[in-house]
Amino acid sequence: MLKQECLPEHVAIIMDGNGRWAGKRSLKRFLGHQQGAKSVQLVTETASRIGLPWLTLYAFSLENNLRRPRAEVNFLMRLLKSYLETNVQRMMDNNVRIRYIGRTHELPAEVQDKMRWAEETTARNTGTTLTLALNYGGRSEMVDAFRGLAAEMQRKHLAPDRITEEDIHRHLYTAHMPDPDLLIRTSGEMRISNYLLWQIAYAEIYVTERLWPDFRGIHLLEAIADFQRRERRFGGIGEGSGEVEEDPERIKLAAG
Ligand code: IPE
Ligand code: IPE
Ligand code: MG
Repeated sequence: MLKQECLPEHVAIIMDGNGRWAGKRSLKRFLGHQQGAKSVQLVTETASRIGLPWLTLYAFSLENNLRRPRAEVNFLMRLLKSYLETNVQRMMDNNVRIRYIGRTHELPAEVQDKMRWAEETTARNTGTTLTLALNYGGRSEMVDAFRGLAAEMQRKHLAPDRITEEDIHRHLYTAHMPDPDLLIRTSGEMRISNYLLWQIAYAEIYVTERLWPDFRGIHLLEAIADFQRRERRFGGIGEGSGEVEEDPERIKLAAG
């Protein structure tokens, strides 16, 4: 089904719909999150099986941290800890390396300890890099990047007109990663919700009605197959979109 030679390098996913999945079944929201964690495991395993180099999952936003009831936030923290405890061995078996982006230093200390342990344990794996966005916001990432860049410029006495896109990229949490080629959002919402704002400039967007707890490896493959049917233009000219006039002087402009 997939063309191995044009796999995306980097897939980013906004994992949405855990609460609605539970609501549809008259269950408590935490059961939706628990089922969503199963999807994380299975989708990661599929990514590693097809040789996807980068998978970046939006697991917990800064806004989630600020705006959701404490009980839900606390549950998500416990779920993250237990996810790492039970899945690091699987990551080792699947050659998956785990990393994080976001203001993770604001998370509870025992969660940070577990995160560090998982990152260090899997650091030498060479297959898929699974990056979890935790306490992440796209705008705050830019604030952090600009702070870092401004400090560097002050140190090196650089003038503002020397700033390049590459300089900004170097100061983002994702400095070591390519930009996402494909951005998937589950549960049908047509919005970005403050995810990877700088990095998705030319990402292909794929929105599915399927709720995250129902999303499985096969659905990742479907999204990638859809991606492979698209023509990416990056601002250029597409195939079959009309011929270019080679001698612009000959063109009569309609009088306005
Ligand atoms: C996504 O599911 C998981 C997190 C944001 C932590 P939601 O919890 O947002 O589920 P809905 O949107 O309420 O269905
Ligand atoms: C986006 O989902 C954040 C994560 C998936 C972690 P939300 O459920 O928080 O997004 P909104 O509030 O519907 O935009
Ligand atoms: Mg949601």
